[in-house]
Amino acid sequence: MPLKTRTYQGSPRNLSRLASALARGELVAVPTETVYGLAGNALNPAACRAIFKAKGRPTADPLIVHIHALRQVEALAVPNEASEKLAAAFWPGPLTLILPKRAIVDDLVTSGLPSVALRMPAHPLFRRLLRGCDLPLAAPSANRFGYISPTTAAHVKAGLAGRVRHILDGGPCLLGLESTIVDLRQPAKPRILRPGPLSAAQISKILGCEVHTGRPPSHEGLPQVAPGLLKRHYSPRTPLVVHERIPEGAWHSRPRNEAWLLLCRPAKPAANVFCLDPRGDLRAAARHLFALLRELDSGGYTRIHAELAPGTGLADAINDRLRRAAAKD
Ligand code: TXA
Ligand code: MG
Repeated sequence: MPLKTRTYQGSPRNLSRLASALARGELVAVPTETVYGLAGNALNPAACRAIFKAKGRPTADPLIVHIHALRQVEALAVPNEASEKLAAAFWPGPLTLILPKRAIVDDLVTSGLPSVALRMPAHPLFRRLLRGCDLPLAAPSANRFGYISPTTAAHVKAGLAGRVRHILDGGPCLLGLESTIVDLRQPAKPRILRPGPLSAAQISKILGCEVHTGRPPSHEGLPQVAPGLLKRHYSPRTPLVVHERIPEGAWHSRPRNEAWLLLCRPAKPAANVFCLDPRGDLRAAARHLFALLRELDSGGYTRIHAELAPGTGLADAINDRLRRAAAKD
């Protein structure tokens, strides 16, 4: 039986209702500053199971646990000096820390890994909800597994209507890309597992050491983390091809039913050519990326051509999402 899905505005009355729903083990789709999440009580295995089921997500892909107070870190994980520095610098914000877990965190949340992913989000409505229920909330992005992450309440409804009861509408997400994930299991060897709004340079500056990127080499003998960081992800149904640069007018020699996604506005606009931001501002580009990919995916095109962002930092995060969207498996 499909569930009746309702979208709520963030009034005090609605927030207190939704906090009670979470305490009862129900799921609530919530706004965050990165993307919308599908939240459930991280300490309730039935709620966590319901998250995997609603998304159609394999249980081998662990969940991020969201908190509102630093005291919760100590209850769920084993912090270290590096995690304390990064939390002080960037929380609340788009940063997820991987730390050794405590026994209170169920294996279902971490997919059997001995480490847990923690994040203190910044969106004011989600923070009020977290405080209201005073529970750690497990929340993956609120999309069907493998599809493009949602950055509005309408995106969540499009993917999960009938599968979740409650959607809290907090407006469009400010950043538009998922949090930067930093593995701190070996505090002296910090590693970015997923590039995001916070860059390697920003993290390295706070820690005062180099920050590695990509998966840890197998000879370090650590359990393979982030099994969910699959190559193919964030994928539109329409085939997507990425290009280092798309020169002005490249579309003239191609069929008109192919779409072109540029960083900034072309000199001569065309109906099948779109831009992430008229001036090519990377923050705005990141904010618009997923919404525009969804729009192009339902535009009846046979192919989407997307241009990679120049430089590093936020460009790395945008390009990571585009490359995964283009990956074949
Ligand atoms: O911005 C975000 O991080 C959003 C919002 C909702 O907070 N959440 C999000 O969750 O992007 P999700 O589930 O779509 O991506 C979480 C990633 C997964 O690829 C998963 O493999 C990794 O985090 N992860 C979760 N727990 C982990 C753990 N214990 N060790 C390593 N990686 C983990
Ligand atoms: Mg996701």
